[in-house]
Parts: sequence; structure tokens; C-alpha cells
Amino acid sequence: LDNGLALTPPMGWMTWQRYRCETNCSGEGAQRCINEDLIKEMADRMAEDGWLDAGYQYINIDDCWMLPERAEGRLVPDPKRFPSGMAALGEYIHQRGLKFGTYGDIGYKTCQGLTGFHDHFEEDAQTLADWKVDYIKVDGCNENQEDMARDYPAFGAALNKTGRPIVYSCSWPAYMPHHCEKTDGCMNSLIQHCNLWRNFDDVADSWDSVKSITNFWKRLNSSDEMVQSAGPGHWNDPDMLLVGGFGLSVSEAQSQFALWSLFAAPLFMSNDLRDISQEARDILQNREVIAVNQDPLGKQGFCVAGCDGNLRVWARPLAGGDVAVIFQNLGFAGDGDSITLPTSTLPFKTFRIFKARDLFAKKDLGIFREELTLYVHVSSCRMIRISAATEQQIMV
Ligand code: DGJ
Repeated sequence: LDNGLALTPPMGWMTWQRYRCETNCSGEGAQRCINEDLIKEMADRMAEDGWLDAGYQYINIDDCWMLPERAEGRLVPDPKRFPSGMAALGEYIHQRGLKFGTYGDIGYKTCQGLTGFHDHFEEDAQTLADWKVDYIKVDGCNENQEDMARDYPAFGAALNKTGRPIVYSCSWPAYMPHHCEKTDGCMNSLIQHCNLWRNFDDVADSWDSVKSITNFWKRLNSSDEMVQSAGPGHWNDPDMLLVGGFGLSVSEAQSQFALWSLFAAPLFMSNDLRDISQEARDILQNREVIAVNQDPLGKQGFCVAGCDGNLRVWARPLAGGDVAVIFQNLGFAGDGDSITLPTSTLPFKTFRIFKARDLFAKKDLGIFREELTLYVHVSSCRMIRISAATEQQIMV
């Protein structure tokens, strides 16, 4: 969508994966129910603990903020959990230099049975604009698949009419059996009408979930419509990051972060920033990996070798001619394996002589000719940035 927004993949924090639809705010639920305190506490942490400086800007309340019924035709936040109202919450977020995101549904009800936007596109878009919302995720429960091609663009038009710049995230392809790949034109419509879109299943806090999503992505190469559809202002979205949760080891968390960065995916954490390990923080705030994700060329990377096996190589072309490469070992027996990438395998550029830098180790590996062989532990990856070098640099 050419609205001047999301020129690089949006980064931020979102409630859903970690906090779901917890509406009981008493007792143990007090720290993890969907209410304004949760959002304010996360906003404080985002602004004060280096997240905003690293690029994480949006704070998004997913499903379960609203009442099941409208009042005078308008959406209403649950007054018990959002007593100050959405406009005041947005102001709190904006005062900290962050941006305010929330959630709705193109159908009659959200996935959790609360009020959907259907039949109220203009009023609801205006309500969001009045609250100074900067980002809206629009889910696709309780809507006919055939109507989505009409309704997602129509809601986008209603947002546009408000005059407020609002990032528009569409869950449309996640609800289509063909995920808008074998197309009836929906991928083209997404590029035109949405800033990003959820392509596939919901993420949950396990390595199996990450593997199932990446197995959907690994089938793609440079000529696939889904790869070509990504670019400044319009991105594929493989769903939230699990880093800082309970389900991934440190090396698996690095792998998800590396892959999402290579996919030019939106980087939305869904964790507890009030209580996050140093390892998770180091992964999520790794500036060199973030730079790959935010690369201004905006090309989506894909699997280039070993894609059907356990030793995979993924690559993404970057502005200025560098290439980001992930050497991933999906095996789980023993200590690890060597993976070789002949640079002639790269579909976009052949480096005869190149420099390689390890982005998690934050170390230059040296200058190489024709190919790179790296040892990668099981259930782990190494993310490398390669840049052209010269014969003279090998000599010194
Ligand atoms: C389905 C979406 O895919 C999830 O990310 C989340 O928004 C839930 N619906 C909320 O009900």
C-alpha cells in the first residue's frame, strides 16, 4: 500500500501470542490480562530499556480489548479493563515516543466473538483515527472468503478517508485455502491495499510451530509471487516472534530471529518486557541482524540450498550488493555439521572473493574465495553478512 508507511518492516510488541484473551485481571491474572496497565507497563519498558532505540516502535493490543456490543454504533473498549479509554491510552503511548496499534476484524465478530467491523467500516475507521491509532491489524474470522476481496480494500479506503496515516495489516491470505499464492488476484490486491498481511497459520510458543511456518516459506524461490510481493510499504507476515518466551532454546530463538530478519518480516515480539532474560534481549536487540531486517532495498530472502533437508542455506540480497546468509542446521543428533555454500549457488550475485561477518558472534570471519564452509551446531544457525572483497585484501 502506497501510503508512505512501513517502508521497512514494522517493529514492535503485540499482546496476542503471550497474553491471548486473558480478561480475568484478579489474583494471578493481574500481571497478564489484557488491560491498560499491561499496555502502559510494556510501553514504559519499551521506551526505557533500549527497545525503541533498537527500532521497536509499535505497541499493539490484539483481540479482546472491546465489548461484544456497540454503543451508539461505536466500538467500545471494556470499561473495567480500559477505564481511561483508548484515546488516553494512545496518548500515554505517544508521550513515550511509541506508536499505538490495535486490532479488529473484517467480519461481524472477532475470532474471540467480540465486535467486528462489518457494516461499520467508515465509523470504525473514524473511531480509530479519533483515538489516534497508528496501526490496525484486521483479522478475518466470521467473514465469507468470497467477500474478503471486496471488504479488505473497502476498509482500507475507509482508513484512507480519515486522513490519518494508519498502517494496515490484513489477515486475508491466512484465511484463504491457497493463501493468495495460486492467485485469483488477491496477492496483487494485497500489495495495493495493505501494508502487510498474515500469510499462514498462527505462531505458538514452540520450535515445532516455527518449523511449520518456515516449512511454508522454504518452498519459495526468487520467482515466486509471495517473494516478489514483498517490498517497501507491503510485506509478508509470518506472525510474531517467540524470543523471550518459554518454548525456544537460545539457539532456536536466534534461528527464529535470523529467519524472520531474512524474510523481511515484521518484527513483533510477544513477551514480558518486565521480566526478560539477557540472552533474549541480546538476540532481539542485535543491531546487525536488525539492519538486515530493515535493509532499505526491501527484498525478501528465501532458501537457496538444502531446502528439503536438515542443512539449509537461506539468502537475502541487501542494498549496496551485500548478501545476508543463514546456515541452518535442523538436525538434532550429535553436535553439529559443516555446511558449504559455493557462492555460485546464490541466485542474485556471484562473489568470487568476499568478506564474511558472523552477526551473532559479532566477528569478522575473514576473506574467502568461491565458497564458504561453516560448522553449525544442531538446532542452530549462523547468520553471515557477505560483502565483495578483492584479491589484494586476501594478500594482506
Ligand atoms: C487469529 C489471528 O491469526 C491471531 O494472530 C490473533 O489475532 C487471534 N485471531 C485473535 O483472536
